[in-house]
Amino acid sequence: MPRKALIAANWKMYKTPAEAKAFVDAFLPLVASHTRDEIALFPSPVLLPTVVAACKSTNVAVGAQNIHFAEEGAYTGETSIGQLKAVGGTHTLIGHSERRQYFAETDEIVNKKLHTALKHGVVPIVCIGEVLEEREAGKTAGVLKTQVTGAFAGITPEAAVPIVIAYEPVWAIGTGKTATPEIAADAHRIIRAEVAKLLGAPVAAAMRILYGGSVKPDNAAALLNQEEIDGALVGGASLKPDSFTAIVKY
Ligand code: PGA
Repeated sequence: MPRKALIAANWKMYKTPAEAKAFVDAFLPLVASHTRDEIALFPSPVLLPTVVAACKSTNVAVGAQNIHFAEEGAYTGETSIGQLKAVGGTHTLIGHSERRQYFAETDEIVNKKLHTALKHGVVPIVCIGEVLEEREAGKTAGVLKTQVTGAFAGITPEAAVPIVIAYEPVWAIGTGKTATPEIAADAHRIIRAEVAKLLGAPVAAAMRILYGGSVKPDNAAALLNQEEIDGALVGGASLKPDSFTAIVKY
């Protein structure tokens, strides 16, 4: 079975509700007939009700950039999985490198969040990737294996089916430096082999691995035409309807 690609927009901490609504109103007609790939938008939590309402009954899914692992509690500033579901979110990013870098998320926290998302039927996109010093020191494979093993602790093959992985080399995020299609595909092969070791070959063969890090309209096709690359997680170039559409329709 070929893997259906997922093209995801990570809006990070950008857009007001009015700007988010304007994006969706312009974007939906541009992709209305697009069935080849799945499409998902990941806005800030305060934008979720607006974006979910605007995307209702369309081919565009909406998710959170982060959730807490606890179902509820005294966690000031956090969003629970129940809150995400109650406003109609169906997906969540987990362990984005900016969460790891600025909010001290560890593989252990990523693992807890992954268990929470799967328990509640929310599609998790687990983000992993090496920093520049790790790549330059030849440690990329080891880092990716550690991140996959840590994230997937205690996850059974049956439970793992909805999981999506996003490989995002940290040195390529927001820098304009994209991994070459070959570098990305190599990393994806390492990740898939590790998933196969942990969860078995069938689960690994079906799992989607997205690439993220300076994906733009002019490099999307070369990346996404790699057999190992099953979609993209797009930051900067997802903020404008035209550029994100060009990536979706690579
Ligand atoms: P970028 O961000 O496309 O702006 O590099 C990707 C991401 O952080 O998910």
